[in-house]
Amino acid sequence: MCGIVGYVGTRPAVDVLVRGLKRLEYRGYDSTGVAFETPRGILIEKSEGKLERVESLMGANPNADRSNSVCGIGHTRWATHGKPTTTNAHPHRAGSVVLVHNGIIENYREIKSELLKLGYKPESETDSELFGYLVLEEMKAGQSFVNSVRRAFKKIDGACSFVVMDEKHPGVIVGARNGSPLVLAKDPQGGAILASDAQPILEYTKDVYFLENGEVAIISPQGVEIQSLETGARITPAFVTLNWSVDQIDKGGYPHYMLKEIYEQPSALVDTFNSSLDRSRSEPFVLAPHKGVDLLMNAKELTLIACGTSYYSSMIGKYWLENYGEIPVNVDFASEYRYRSSVLREQSVLVGVSQSGETADTLAVLRELKKKNVPTLGLTNVRGSTISREAGGTFFTYAGPEIGVAATKSFTTQLATFLMWAGALREKHKKGSGQKLFEEMIQLPHLLKSYLEGDNGVQKKIRSIATQVQNKKGFFFIGRGPSFPIALEGALKLKEIAYIHAEGYAAGELKHGPIAMIDESMVVVVLAPKDHWREKTISNLEEVKARGATIIGVGDANDSHLKDLSHHFVALPAIENEDLSVFPLAAVVQLLSYELAVLKGTDVDQPRNLAKSVTVE
Ligand code: F6R
Repeated sequence: MCGIVGYVGTRPAVDVLVRGLKRLEYRGYDSTGVAFETPRGILIEKSEGKLERVESLMGANPNADRSNSVCGIGHTRWATHGKPTTTNAHPHRAGSVVLVHNGIIENYREIKSELLKLGYKPESETDSELFGYLVLEEMKAGQSFVNSVRRAFKKIDGACSFVVMDEKHPGVIVGARNGSPLVLAKDPQGGAILASDAQPILEYTKDVYFLENGEVAIISPQGVEIQSLETGARITPAFVTLNWSVDQIDKGGYPHYMLKEIYEQPSALVDTFNSSLDRSRSEPFVLAPHKGVDLLMNAKELTLIACGTSYYSSMIGKYWLENYGEIPVNVDFASEYRYRSSVLREQSVLVGVSQSGETADTLAVLRELKKKNVPTLGLTNVRGSTISREAGGTFFTYAGPEIGVAATKSFTTQLATFLMWAGALREKHKKGSGQKLFEEMIQLPHLLKSYLEGDNGVQKKIRSIATQVQNKKGFFFIGRGPSFPIALEGALKLKEIAYIHAEGYAAGELKHGPIAMIDESMVVVVLAPKDHWREKTISNLEEVKARGATIIGVGDANDSHLKDLSHHFVALPAIENEDLSVFPLAAVVQLLSYELAVLKGTDVDQPRNLAKSVTVE
């Protein structure tokens, strides 16, 4: 999870590090720190808490060495080993070596006991600090700085990356990757920058190199060098040019990234449709050709593996892929699938669905199945991410950078992709049969835009409802069919950003237990678009209504029955194909949790205990 930046060049290094860490805080924000070279050696400034703590420490203590430094490393932490304290914050020092780390050292107990025997006394409770002593030992044995990092890294088990400086080698930063991502770029003004993802780099250049596992990067004012971790042999890096822009990673006038990202959904859908389809063809659902398309189109079964919100989008994907694409689909949590024996049919294709493309459990399943020669696909929002590079073929969503920890536009663009897959498979069975669905699909961005931004933008209505229910004890979200995963997603969002207890239920399941919880202190959000399941959902609602809960009905504007049963009502836009109601429904549950979180005063973009990219198991 943690975020790493390293910079050496001509710019004020601490400035580059702080700006970079601001872009990486979504990866973890328990504690933060920077280390930079000065004429008197490497100085470390760090603190528990967010980056602003370190910034205010620096503000209170101006230091010319800090402003003049042109080489340094920085870190924002999501605690795994050891509490989020200042001592456990990175960078860590081991003698002359200073380092930051992302990931986990699995064999840290063994390493620690060896180091204790050698007389080292680690200060922190982290596994990270130990790596510094391993590097130091190698240097003591006469190895060069770079070789010491390589040799030390080979002693480590577990997915991680390190970025290391040494006081005896000023102007050199060494990064090593095995598992956790590292991206590198040459600064057009001289020198180079290394980071956990491309966002800190974009304001300097869009030409980046994603390190492969088992690679070491050496950056200095002279530029960059890549070596094999195993042999030290030089590797020529293949740089790629990214199409993300710096504007996309600013708040653009919105109070929170999450809100901006909710409102970006219509344009994210347009970009995803335009980039995923071959727009030179007049037939519907012709997927833009790449390796993944053949794998998808020849599959006899799909197994979608994901976590959290990506799991819920996969559940909806299953409805569409089975309904329109007529292909059997399994959906499972990566963390569950990973540890059970599963049986896949012939020509089954495993799909790792992950907006970040880095989620440890999803990646582990993909790797495991690849080993068993099962064809694999990735569906991710991040180019260069590990899943995108390791899957047999990768589809991208084009949501642009998503900074808010809560997934919003990455969710709806995953839905859009599943819909296109379903349409393409439908067309494969019978040419022309997808035309109607295609026409309905391409209206979605406009429909969603008017829903969010029209004269009666839905946010205002939801804010007023949120104000009236903010003090309720708990929430149930219920729905059937494709609205059921939206109910799960609504409950997840509410817990995640507003810290309010919420549950998502298939409406028909309430009476099998959870209805015992329903009384005047509870809110039930009923997702009942005018679809095939509406009537059944409404009868479940009657059962709840009798128990005194406050009902928020979400359904067709003319659904007077639902309106009568509800204390509060959110109208959905008129939509021809009710299967596609999940798009406006998603916006409703996202905005409801957003408004409740704002009323509670939580940190919407960086909720407690979370990180955007979950690279540990
Ligand atoms: C919730 C959320 C998480 C992620 C989950 C999987 O808003 O963002 O539940 O969906 O951690 O992440 P990815 O999609 O990156 O694999």
